[in-house]
Amino acid sequence: MNQIKIFAPASVANVSCGFDVLGFCLEPVGDQMLIRKTNSSGIKITKIEGQNLPLDVKKNVAGVAAEALLKAHPTKSGFEIEIYKNIKAGSGIGSSAASAAGAVYGINELLGKPYTSHDLISFAMEGEGMASGTVHADNVAPVLMGGITLVRSIDPVDVIKLPIPKALTAVVLHPKIELKTMHAREIIKKNVTMEKAIQQWGNLGAFVSALYNEDYDLMSRSLKDEIVEPMRSMLIPEFESLKKASIQAGAIGFGISGSGPSVYALTKGIDGAKKIHSAINEVISSIDIDYEIHISKINEQGIKILTD
Ligand code: HSE
Repeated sequence: MNQIKIFAPASVANVSCGFDVLGFCLEPVGDQMLIRKTNSSGIKITKIEGQNLPLDVKKNVAGVAAEALLKAHPTKSGFEIEIYKNIKAGSGIGSSAASAAGAVYGINELLGKPYTSHDLISFAMEGEGMASGTVHADNVAPVLMGGITLVRSIDPVDVIKLPIPKALTAVVLHPKIELKTMHAREIIKKNVTMEKAIQQWGNLGAFVSALYNEDYDLMSRSLKDEIVEPMRSMLIPEFESLKKASIQAGAIGFGISGSGPSVYALTKGIDGAKKIHSAINEVISSIDIDYEIHISKINEQGIKILTD
């Protein structure tokens, strides 16, 4: 195989109680990438459509991630990458993660799969690190491994794939303003009180247990974030009204997707998701902002190879 075309999906990171450690993969939104093996060594990004992003390998998350892989696995072949962006940079649904994860996934396939999806996380993370100033794996892990993932550690990488309750459905609102992750990280206070830390690890543990037991009530009680959300929500238009409307419409949880401005709600089933979709739509359509709302099951597979 000398060429591969893939779909690299969007993702929701943090998931309220799991700042930098929890994430899940979305189904309907994502980029396409074409990766080609060549005879000249090294990585080249030959085309980017849909976004104005650098072709320079050192300045592009896909390039940085791909070079990290080739550094660990030297080869005489080179690789050309074409990126067809559909996920907006600075949207909060893992735009850079999709590019970084997609690049290493595609190259790994063309090399005959020397690495597992779990191994690829460390390379993709380097791309994320370049984009946001800090290395984290909560977006790249669910994109590469699929489903819902928990990052126990990034050094060494230790990521656990969690069970997906059958009816779990996400609603994601993307208000079309750009929020750079680097900036959204800078506004977070570096210290957490013991009281808040206790709440957060209680909630995170409970959420994981709720996934295993398909306990939607416990999920609802644990999808809370009193550490980061109060600071970041100030950057998101109508955050409190959107949250209130979603919960009233039956959401089991609502929070910031990644570093925002996208927000997510989780609910049980498509009918529940449609109710939340209209509640969110009513709030956001009352202000002058472009937006998109997606309803998505949890994408169990993650990156997909396209055959057409
Ligand atoms: N955990 C990351 C953050 C996700 O919230 O900053 C965004 O890349």
